[in-house]
This record gives sequence, structure tokens and C-alpha cells, in this order.
Amino acid sequence: MENKHVLIIKGSERSGSFTNRLCSEAQNLLVGCHIDVFDAFKENFAPCNGCNFCEVNGRCVHGDLNDFFKRFENADLIIFASPVYNGTFSAPLKSLIDRFQCYYTTFYANGKVQPIKKRRKAILIAASGRDGKRSIDFMNWQLKCAFSILNIEFIETVLCSYTDTVPQYDEALNKLKRSLAYEEA
Ligand SMILES: Cc1cc2nc3c(=O)[nH]c(=O)nc-3n(C[C@H](O)[C@H](O)[C@H](O)COP(=O)(O)O)c2cc1C
Repeated sequence: MENKHVLIIKGSERSGSFTNRLCSEAQNLLVGCHIDVFDAFKENFAPCNGCNFCEVNGRCVHGDLNDFFKRFENADLIIFASPVYNGTFSAPLKSLIDRFQCYYTTFYANGKVQPIKKRRKAILIAASGRDGKRSIDFMNWQLKCAFSILNIEFIETVLCSYTDTVPQYDEALNKLKRSLAYEEA
């Protein structure tokens, strides 16, 4: 992974957040990589409202994520980290996922030509108060649908479950370490 560009997209601003802890661990493990962090709670961007401007113009009516999209397109590895809130992503991350709609419209407007040339990899990190099984399946599916035309291969899903009682943090960390070590090899 040396010299690779890693984009970490964070979706919790809770003090003591397990997803943020896992992101920090990933940062420590990815020695020699260029790490770029997008903290969705700290960024101010508009939600998609389906205005269809992108369908006609090939870009979103809002320019507030232009810089983020460049970083997203250049990344070799994308780490998407979210708490489970009501069975899915935290609100700013759900909002961010909706904003990828402009790639979809461009894809169809251009005769289904892949909008991002570079092949990238992605890891989903999540934390849930309870077992989180149904939620993580749903989140996986949502993200795979949203990223299906974005030249991304999902390599791992890391869930830290039972954070309300006995957090399964070590299991999640070991899984994360294994997947990053595999990428390293
Ligand atoms: C608004 C809200 C909704 C939540 N919904 C769920 C849920 O549907 N399922 C679940 O297992 N845990 C749920 N939780 C618990 C969080 O997933 C848990 O606290 C998790 O550790 C948050 O991630 P973090 O530690 O990275 O902040 C919810 C917490 C909040 C604040």
C-alpha cells in the first residue's frame, strides 16, 4: 500500500466512537500511505433533492462537493465508516451517498460509460449497539448499489457490534488488520 492514496470517510462525531477508533487504527496501520480524511459531520454540503440538474448538465447544481469528488476519484482505497443509526448510515453519510447520484445520471447520459477510470478498493466499517446483522447487510447492499458504476471493488466489511453492552471491538480490529495486511501483501 506504500504511496497509495487512502480516503477515510467518517460518519460519527460521538466522543469515544468505535468507528472513529477503527479509522485511527487504520491510519496507523497504513504506513507510507497518503491519508485523507473526510469527516461528514464537519462538512457542510447540501443533500440531493432530485432536481435532475445533473441529468442535463453532467454535474451537480451544488459545487460544495467538487473537491471531495476529486479526492474520491483519486483514492486507491476508500474506507467508509459509519455508526448504525436506525438500521442504516448516520444522516450525513446517507446524504453523501445520495450525492453520488450525479455519477449515475452521467453514466446513463454517456451511454453507460464508466465515469471513473481508476480502479479502486473499498472497506466498510460500522458499529452497532446491538448485533447489527440486518443493518450491515442492508448498508452493504446500499453502498454496493451506490458504488456499482464507480469502479470500486469491496474487499471487506468490518462491524464492531454490541457497543451498547460488550463491544466486539477486538474482533473488528483483527478483521480490519487482516484485510489491510492482505492488501499490503
Ligand atoms: C440515533 C441512533 C440510532 C441508533 N440506531 C441503532 C440501530 O438501529 N441498531 C443498533 O444496533 N444500534 C443503533 N444505535 C447505536 C449505535 O449504532 C452505537 O452507539 C454505535 O456504537 C455508534 O457508532 P460509533 O460508536 O462509531 O459512534 C443507534 C444510536 C443512535 C444515536
